[in-house]
Amino acid sequence: MTQLNSNKSKVAVIGLGNIGSAVATNLVKGNRSIVVSDRKIEKAKMLSQKLGNLAQPMDIATAIKQADIVVFAIWFDAIKELLNTYAKELRGKIIVDPSNPIAPDEKGGFRKIIGETESAGEILSSLLPTDAKLVKALGTLGVASLANAAFRTPEPAVSFYATDDTSINEIVEELIRDNGFAPVNIGAINQSIRIEVFGDLHEFGALGKTVTVSEAKEIVSTDGKFYTAV
Ligand SMILES: NC(=O)c1ccc[n+]([C@@H]2O[C@H](COP(=O)([O-])OP(=O)(O)OC[C@H]3O[C@@H](n4cnc5c(N)ncnc54)[C@H](OP(=O)(O)O)[C@@H]3O)[C@@H](O)[C@H]2O)c1
Repeated sequence: MTQLNSNKSKVAVIGLGNIGSAVATNLVKGNRSIVVSDRKIEKAKMLSQKLGNLAQPMDIATAIKQADIVVFAIWFDAIKELLNTYAKELRGKIIVDPSNPIAPDEKGGFRKIIGETESAGEILSSLLPTDAKLVKALGTLGVASLANAAFRTPEPAVSFYATDDTSINEIVEELIRDNGFAPVNIGAINQSIRIEVFGDLHEFGALGKTVTVSEAKEIVSTDGKFYTAV
């Protein structure tokens, strides 16, 4: 891959809808070199033109092959599909899953498309390619907050994450900080349900808002279930 502007892990954002565009925009604002990719290459080229040199457009296969971190900013079922299609290329990579396993319901709202007690994170972790590492992250806020609360001062807003592989915590936290948020680890992938939509730490769940690190620490002390705080 063309050497980008730093020795940080190479990130590819796959899927340039609401979340993918917001994450890509934040990362560029955070001075992170990224690859932007979508099944429509034109979309990637257009976003790259808008964001400048730090965002390189690529087709999905090349983007995955050349990245260390692959952010799947696509719907849950599409992630399952791509894990299968690109199983070989995804070996050993860090896969970021921001997905919420929901679909529109007949009342104009959303319903969960997996079991009440299941999480997308746990289901995807059972489908991982060899040696790939999954982190549930970047989906704990709605797109408006993801865009508007990024790089907030003086206290940054929190972005929660969960992973089974603590060896990647540092890399994940760097990604979240470059995305404009303060990372807070809530534990293993079996905690994913807490940071998926309707979960108790999701903006569209019991939490209902963005929080600062100190507010997150207060939740820790009142909620006992929290795993670690920064
Ligand atoms: N929107 C939110 O507030 C929010 C908040 C937290 C988490 N999330 C999660 O983030 C993910 C993306 O949500 P979104 O709101 O950004 O959705 P979106 O605006 O509909 O964007 C989805 C993107 O994925 C692409 N895509 C769909 N199927 C694909 C496939 N099979 N292969 C490659 N690309 C594919 C779409 O491309 P096309 O244009 O070609 O269809 C589109 O660019 C979802 O899992 C969602 O649950 C969303």
